[in-house]
Amino acid sequence: MSRLSQPSLTLALQQALIACRQATLDQVQPLGDDLYYRQAHPDFSPIGWHLGHIGFTEELWLLRHCAGYPPQQPQYHRLYAADGLPKQQREQLPNLRDTCIYLQDIRQQVLDYLPQAPLEDQARLWWFILQHESQHGETMAIVEALHRLSPLYRPHPAASKPLNPKTIKIPAGAFLQGNSDENTLDNEQPAFLNALDQYHIDRYPVTCGQYRHFIEVGGYDNPKYWSAAGWQFIQDHEIRQPLYWPQEDSSQFDPYPVCGVSWYEANAYANFVGKRLPTEAEWEKAASWNPQQHRHQPYPWGIEFPQGSHCNHHRLMGGITPVHAYPDHCSPWGLEDMLGNVWEWTSTSFYGYQGFEFFPYPGYSQTYFDGQHYVLRGGSWTTRPWALRNSFRNWYSPQVRELFAGFRLCGR
Ligand code: AVJ
Ligand code: FE
Repeated sequence: MSRLSQPSLTLALQQALIACRQATLDQVQPLGDDLYYRQAHPDFSPIGWHLGHIGFTEELWLLRHCAGYPPQQPQYHRLYAADGLPKQQREQLPNLRDTCIYLQDIRQQVLDYLPQAPLEDQARLWWFILQHESQHGETMAIVEALHRLSPLYRPHPAASKPLNPKTIKIPAGAFLQGNSDENTLDNEQPAFLNALDQYHIDRYPVTCGQYRHFIEVGGYDNPKYWSAAGWQFIQDHEIRQPLYWPQEDSSQFDPYPVCGVSWYEANAYANFVGKRLPTEAEWEKAASWNPQQHRHQPYPWGIEFPQGSHCNHHRLMGGITPVHAYPDHCSPWGLEDMLGNVWEWTSTSFYGYQGFEFFPYPGYSQTYFDGQHYVLRGGSWTTRPWALRNSFRNWYSPQVRELFAGFRLCGR
């Protein structure tokens, strides 16, 4: 985003914060106590914790750090700080009603402070807070999916249209990787020129139809496709198929992307078909580089802020859609479904770009530059528009299969 003048920046932030909060509340309002308090999985905090942590983080950075206010609920520090209670002890929570009152109370003070805030110094932090809430919104959606175990694949008119799978050649050359705009996160900055060799990348993510073949011919029983760590992982956890694999035994969801795979499963499938995961640079060049105009685009379709017509995001479709449902909003190279629907694993372990500086705290990105996390790109059907763009980097450990994540392949 280009720099806005102070009054329009104030207005843009105000509108985005309000819309983002509405999405958060719409998501948690229908939940019963069981879904609110209970831990669905040892690696994920309860939904009620995420909700309180959203308010706490907003208070910490915008009211305490920027405006200089004292802590308003000192007992919340231990409960909601990222480095507070261990994940397994986060079930003793204030109830939904009290948590919403806390969120509303903080938010009212934040909106009162905004018109006086020195945004020339603070804008980046305000955009961070908006994306922090967006990302916890996605984590809450994951926890909800783990509780409910209800189908994620949605019937869609495009499902009856033929797929046109294709491998697209991206010629050798430099592109601008990353994004130094003030609304991006620390790990996207600073942008830099990256020269890549020629490569081939698929038009679509790997579909359920393709992946079914791997399952049916015993892909999960044959160590030759798996790394040693990946093989050990699927043995230890008795994994036989993706976590969100469509329930009924039908080909109805063949043109939909695989979802709920670990990085290990993505690599095993790639070995099975003699291909490989893209590096994150290969993924980003194919999504963002406009070879005619010789410039970077923040979205595959150009510069327009994401809308429902561009791609499947922001829970607008209530679940996963076919990989070829948005053919008019492909990248300049013709790749489809790059943003939204499912995250895509890459072969790159998460690292800081040359000249990286943490913002606003080392524990946001830098702590994870440990070689133990892999980058995912592209966002999912739940990703909010403020955290959806070509340069956005997500990261998780290779055994995490609870994300709304699939993959697309490179090679041949
Ligand atoms: C980027 C999604 C891995 O949820 O752990 C939220 C985002 N960091 N609060 C996470 C995050 C701090 C982060 N991920
Ligand atoms: Fe957080």
